[in-house]
Amino acid sequence: MTTPRKYHITTFGCQMNKADSERMAGILDDMGFSWSEDPNQADVILYNTCTIRDNAEQKVYSYLGRQAKRKQQDPNVTLIVAGCVAQQEGQQLLRRVPELDLVMGPQHANRLGDLLEQVMDGNQVVATEPIHIMEDITKPRRDSKITAWVNVIYGCNERCTYCVVPGVRGVEQSRTPADIRAEMEELGRQGYKEVTLLGQNIDAYGRDLPGSTPEGRHKHTLTDLLYFVHDVPGIERIRFATSHPRYFNERLIRACAELPKVCEHFHIPFQSGDNEQLKAMSRGYTHQKYRRIIAKIRELMPDAAISADAIVGFPGETEEQFQNTLKLVEDIGFDQLNTAAYSPRPGTPAALWENQVSEGEKKDRLQRLNRLVEVKAAERSQRYTDRIEEVLVEDINPKDQTQVMGRTRGNRLTFFTGDINAQKGEIVKVKITEVRAFSLTGEPVEALVTV
Ligand code: SAH
Ligand code: SF4
Ligand code: F3S
Repeated sequence: MTTPRKYHITTFGCQMNKADSERMAGILDDMGFSWSEDPNQADVILYNTCTIRDNAEQKVYSYLGRQAKRKQQDPNVTLIVAGCVAQQEGQQLLRRVPELDLVMGPQHANRLGDLLEQVMDGNQVVATEPIHIMEDITKPRRDSKITAWVNVIYGCNERCTYCVVPGVRGVEQSRTPADIRAEMEELGRQGYKEVTLLGQNIDAYGRDLPGSTPEGRHKHTLTDLLYFVHDVPGIERIRFATSHPRYFNERLIRACAELPKVCEHFHIPFQSGDNEQLKAMSRGYTHQKYRRIIAKIRELMPDAAISADAIVGFPGETEEQFQNTLKLVEDIGFDQLNTAAYSPRPGTPAALWENQVSEGEKKDRLQRLNRLVEVKAAERSQRYTDRIEEVLVEDINPKDQTQVMGRTRGNRLTFFTGDINAQKGEIVKVKITEVRAFSLTGEPVEALVTV
């Protein structure tokens, strides 16, 4: 029998999954496996899956089908499904795809080594029971050398009526400020420049940690955490996602305005611009409250970039209610908006409601919303024309090798003529010469001066 030596990971879904994949890759590296770019050359194939909408889930099955066929020819292939579909389907996945060796939920990502050993002993393993997430002692294999994800809180305790996340990611578990800072210090030593703190509901950070005051105020909030980590040497930019309007408070906004490393970009999903819909979604805020949050951010940071997520065609959504979403988008002017047609998900309350909106209507609303989003984003981009922006260079422009690319503090993707070897990881001042809805092109200011 040959020992498997190469692995491939395909990642679906959100930033949490990307961060989990990097940690799982680190574990496999430590075990002596090496990365294979081509899944068909790999002995261990891991799908880190997403089930937020039905189309995300279906994509996984089509990928899996192909590898299951390959395994029928070559039994030495090890097939793993990790992530949110694994958690949702558990044992049923084995019935659907008997070729699978390991099904593991997101809370088990750090345990991949142990689980794989059980597989090597000849077992078919399902790991989906809720567990306390062990502090991560493995070294992630990070995709970038410049920007890194740092988990601060796992899970979600909200109960939005459309959403599978609490069911698949489990209850909130915050890492301690000391552990988070230690990870960031290590990143700083390795030359990383930017950290994005991650949580499904990052504003809930710390509420499960011991140390609340008798009045019920938590000692450890996201705001406290930002003050605690902002001076980590080497780290020049800090971002965080995802924020929940229910908890996004003025103290946090003031901290962001005060702390120079915290970038002026906020990702605060609103989901709907209609109060009745927000109530049916159990979101716990009104569109007025959402508008007040954005107004406060813009009062203290006039140039802040705002992005969000929105759902169209949630059960019961009337044309008039949809118009309220359009109106919010029109009024706020988002720099970017992720939009989706509502998808009924197993185990969520709204999936069982009878007042579902037809697929045709959802598609039509999605198109109308997307058209508006593009118009507004293009308008927002205009403000960058002729301005000098700080761009953290991450990579070469894959479409034009003479250009490098990076992001502004407001998270706009920006291209300019440059030299990746000299500029990777540098913050370069760039004069913006061309603007598009979701990206910018410019010229470095230094080069302009010497020409
Ligand atoms: N924790 C974040 C978002 C998590 S999921 C928050 O509270 O906003 C990412 C996005 O997927 C959500 O913001 C929502 O817009 C979308 N989404 C979640 N469930 C969905 C469903 N059933 N159908 C369509 N979109 C959904
Ligand atoms: Fe899902 Fe709501 Fe939790 Fe976001 S806050 S992950 S939408 S349940
Ligand atoms: Fe998808 Fe799971 Fe993230 S369902 S969006 S990968 S938390």
